[in-house]
Amino acid sequence: MADGGIQQMGIVPDAGNPRLLRDALGRFATGVTVVTARGPDGPMGFTANSFASLSLDPALVLWSVARSSQRYGVFSSARHYAIHVLAEDQAGLAVQFSKATSAAAPPDWQWTPEGIPVLPRALARFDCVQHATHDGGDHLIIVGRVLRLAQEEGAPLVFAKGRFGRFND
Ligand SMILES: Cc1cc2nc3c(=O)[nH]c(=O)nc-3n(C[C@H](O)[C@H](O)[C@H](O)COP(=O)(O)O)c2cc1C
Repeated sequence: MADGGIQQMGIVPDAGNPRLLRDALGRFATGVTVVTARGPDGPMGFTANSFASLSLDPALVLWSVARSSQRYGVFSSARHYAIHVLAEDQAGLAVQFSKATSAAAPPDWQWTPEGIPVLPRALARFDCVQHATHDGGDHLIIVGRVLRLAQEEGAPLVFAKGRFGRFND
C-alpha cells in the first residue's frame, strides 16, 4: 500500500470508542439544514446534516434525529415541520440550533398555513408532513412528504470533518 493510501485492512467499529467511526463519517461532506417545528413553548429548531433527498414521486425527503436529544420528543412526533437548507452565510444559525437552549437572539419567525414556524430566509426550504418513521439504531429516521418548497439564489453552507466551509466552484 502506498504511503498515505487508504487502510486496506479496515477497522471494525467499536461501540465503546465511536471516535474512529465518527472521524471516517465526517469525511463525507454534506450541506447543513435546520429543521423547525412548533414545540410546546413555541418555535423550535434543530441543526441536522442527515438530510437527504429520497423520492421525486411522491416528493419525499428524510433526516434522522438522535434518540438521546432533549428535542427528540418534539421532532419525532411533529406532524408538520420545515427543513431549511442553509446558505453559506448562515453558519451562526447552525450553531444556534445545535443546542436545545440558546442565548442567541430568536429568529424573526414566520408561519406557514399549517402552523410551521419558518426562518425568514434559507437557500431552500421544504415544508413537510410526516410520512413515515423508521428505526435507525440510536437515531430515528423521519421521512417527510414535501407539501411546498421555496428556494433562492446563493451558495450552500458545507459541513465536513466537524467544520463549516464553503463550496468553491
Ligand atoms: C452540522 C451539524 C449537524 C448535525 N446533524 C444532526 C443530525 O442530523 N441528527 C441529529 O440527531 N443531530 C445532529 N446534530 C446534533 C444536534 O443538532 C444536537 O446538537 C444534538 O442532538 C444535541 O441536542 P439536544 O441539545 O437537543 O440534546 C448536528 C449538529 C451539527 C453542528
